[in-house]
Amino acid sequence: MPKNHHVCHNIAIFRGHLGHISCKLARPSRGWLVPKFRRAALARLFWVSALSLVSFSLASVSLARLSFADSLVPLARADFPTAPKEQILLGRDLFFDPLLSGNRNIACATCHHGALGSADAVALSVGEGGMGLGKNRRGTETAPAHQHVPRNAPALYNLGADQITVLFHDGRVARDGSAPFGVRMPEGNALERPAVNLLAAQALLPLLSPEEMAGSPGENPIADAVAAQEIRGPSGAWAQLAARVEAVPAYRARFTALNGSTAPLHISDIGNAIGVFLAEEFRAINSPFDAYLRGDTEALSKAQTRGKTLFYGKALCSSCHAGALQTDNSFHAIGIPQIGPGKGHGATGADHGRAAITGDINDRYRFRTPSLRNVALTAPYGHSGAYDSLKEVVRHHLAPRESLMRFDPARVALPALNGPGQTAPQTPPAAERARIAAAITLQIPPLTDAELRDIVSFLHALTDPSSIGGKLGAPARVPSGLPVDSLLD
Ligand code: HEC
Ligand code: HEC
Repeated sequence: MPKNHHVCHNIAIFRGHLGHISCKLARPSRGWLVPKFRRAALARLFWVSALSLVSFSLASVSLARLSFADSLVPLARADFPTAPKEQILLGRDLFFDPLLSGNRNIACATCHHGALGSADAVALSVGEGGMGLGKNRRGTETAPAHQHVPRNAPALYNLGADQITVLFHDGRVARDGSAPFGVRMPEGNALERPAVNLLAAQALLPLLSPEEMAGSPGENPIADAVAAQEIRGPSGAWAQLAARVEAVPAYRARFTALNGSTAPLHISDIGNAIGVFLAEEFRAINSPFDAYLRGDTEALSKAQTRGKTLFYGKALCSSCHAGALQTDNSFHAIGIPQIGPGKGHGATGADHGRAAITGDINDRYRFRTPSLRNVALTAPYGHSGAYDSLKEVVRHHLAPRESLMRFDPARVALPALNGPGQTAPQTPPAAERARIAAAITLQIPPLTDAELRDIVSFLHALTDPSSIGGKLGAPARVPSGLPVDSLLD
């Protein structure tokens, strides 16, 4: 491994632990405020972190001392926003309503269904134009889907927690005090009004994606506005969508009751309702691991306890998957194989990840560290969905270059774009695969098969049983009268 990669890796670890410890000292406060530390706490934080950095560079003997499991702060209800029940239920209807898609044929829930681990159980979704749900979803012969969505639809568990500061695989939505209303959004998509939480801001973006929800130019006025880059303002795509919702009397009446006003709906009303629904529906803080963190010493099995000790100790997982939510809200290159159409960055099928947002070449092939809450419910894994079991994706971490280079794309079955059946994914050229491999900064010490099994057992202890199938679940019908996605179709 080149020297500079080693340094990067250690810095990543350093940052991971810094984030982790700060989690212990101060929970981020509600709203967009950056947590403030007292001078003494800050100094302590520096020294503890500096020591961690030094010990990591030394022999593995010192690693046991760095287990932070005992200092983990359990997640609490107070880490999540509260909202009126009426707003949550409005958000649920909007989340399940195809009305928000340009061609009125796909809802948020199509790709993020509670019965499918808040995602869609496939590596890459068939978005706009498809039919069916989950593994049964496909394009149709009469209206073939244009392409697969380029990245795996992520699970939405606990993303409403205050501790989550970045969203998307590349972090293109992030808390940022210097951005309008405290949220960094992609260029041209800045918020027009405040968002109640990060999820409420994020919800405004899938509406604009041609392959996810908007459709193609010529098909509907929303898609046309998107193609013309008219998003904000009185005639932009957002205003047109708000007007659509406004025109449905049941929505109008419920928003009037909620807002105490008949002022015309704004897209932020819709985003805010969806944001509070997501924070509520996908809050998952009652796993065996949570019970353990709250003091129940019997909550984890023996194998899970060993796995937890490895995860937060010598296996170094928590250097990136830090804290009780298992994320450092940061980005790392771990060489998950690229499959599918890619994001159009450079070579055919390429996806440069974080670099496309920061413009920094050093960020190439880095992706956000996902939280691992409910991870046993959310296969397939990685930003491209290349691995379909926990064992495979964890094994990938142990030898990422080898795993990337010998990856056989033929084993990933993508839903067909033009009718029933499956199709093999596209893969980028060999030279691109070599670039992804060269960027890897992940280095895990060797683990035995038994240790790997224990870690996977621990990952199962992160499942909150109340998440299975969703909490409120799908509404029986939505105010637009359009069909609601069901697994039974
Ligand atoms: C066609 C499938 C599809 C539809 C429809 C869809 N999404 Fe997504 N969603 C995705 C994919 C794929 C990503 C990841 C994209 C990326 O990171 O570049 C994503 C990312 C997200 C994220 C960020 C998750 C994370 O871990 O950071 C949230 C939140 C989300 N979607 C909510 C929504 C909402 C709300 C809607 C409806 C307004 C919606 N999605 C519609 C596929 C979909
Ligand atoms: C250098 C940082 C780093 C370390 C160390 C690390 N991971 Fe990861 N992990 C990531 C990133 C980044 C991703 C997402 C990569 C992507 O989407 O391309 C990920 C993905 C995962 C996933 C898939 C989650 C999903 O929803 O797709 C699992 C499971 C996982 N890691 C477990 C582990 C375990 C167990 C360990 C310790 C053996 C570990 N990780 C160590 C950074 C790290």
